[in-house]
Amino acid sequence: MPQFDDTELTAAVIRSFEETPDPRVKFLMEELVKSLHDFVRKTDLTFDEWGAAIDFLTRTGQKCSSTRQEFILLSDVLGVSMLVDAVNHRDRDGATETTVLGPFYVGEHKPTAHGADISADLPGERMFVQGRVTDLKGKPLAGVPVDVWHADDDGFYDSQKPSYETQGSSSRARFITDADGRFFFRTILPCSYPIPTDGPVGEMILQVRRHPMRPAHVHFLVDAPGYEPLITHVFIEGDKYLDSDVVFGVKNDLIARVEKRTDPVMPDGKPAAAPWHLMRYDFRMKPGKGTAPKPMMAATEDA
Ligand SMILES: [Fe+2]
Repeated sequence: MPQFDDTELTAAVIRSFEETPDPRVKFLMEELVKSLHDFVRKTDLTFDEWGAAIDFLTRTGQKCSSTRQEFILLSDVLGVSMLVDAVNHRDRDGATETTVLGPFYVGEHKPTAHGADISADLPGERMFVQGRVTDLKGKPLAGVPVDVWHADDDGFYDSQKPSYETQGSSSRARFITDADGRFFFRTILPCSYPIPTDGPVGEMILQVRRHPMRPAHVHFLVDAPGYEPLITHVFIEGDKYLDSDVVFGVKNDLIARVEKRTDPVMPDGKPAAAPWHLMRYDFRMKPGKGTAPKPMMAATEDA
């Protein structure tokens, strides 16, 4: 019988993967074990600490539901989500920068008419959003689905509210770009918001004296055939959390000036209740392949 010490054990576990048919799976398992074992050795992890970690991960899984993804939240606050994004987007070639998907994407929606108010029943300052999707040379890309979603004026996503199950979605929609690659819609000005702190990830954030805030932003997922799916946010210039986003998701290229306007009509010629805000952003797509992420939560029936 082998008598493993704390270093021979690592080699034995790595050897146990020798027959793995898929070389990529074999490589990932080997490297995972190396990193985990190194962590235990470097920290002289105690039984209590190991038990606390098992308990934390157990509770993280138990917190997940059809409308809550605590593991993505954990990945986000530890910077793993942005690191995966970074190693997969090292060379943008002038394309729009990417950032985290986040835990509140619920998947595809039926296309919504341009100009629609996706937050029609919600309180908040009104905002008009104009976007354009092009290739790297500025050629418009028509017929491209653009998914948008954002938090409301209280800092919550629709899927965080009990009414989501019965009343359906709000502040989220899919638009299809027109012949000039454009889309536009009405909504409310989102505010900075805390990630959920009523679960194990929130407990951890507060325990290490970090704040749980994200700077105000609108999420966009642009999925054009022949181009890499673009998962990004547009952040609102001036937000006080831009330098300390709890999920490390801010990039300078993604910060937009959102102008306060008093014009009596919005850019589509329809009346505006003053004051209102204007967000404009153009999305440059990088040629390539890729699959847009599957939703981590179920969309509601009428979404
Ligand atoms: Fe968000």
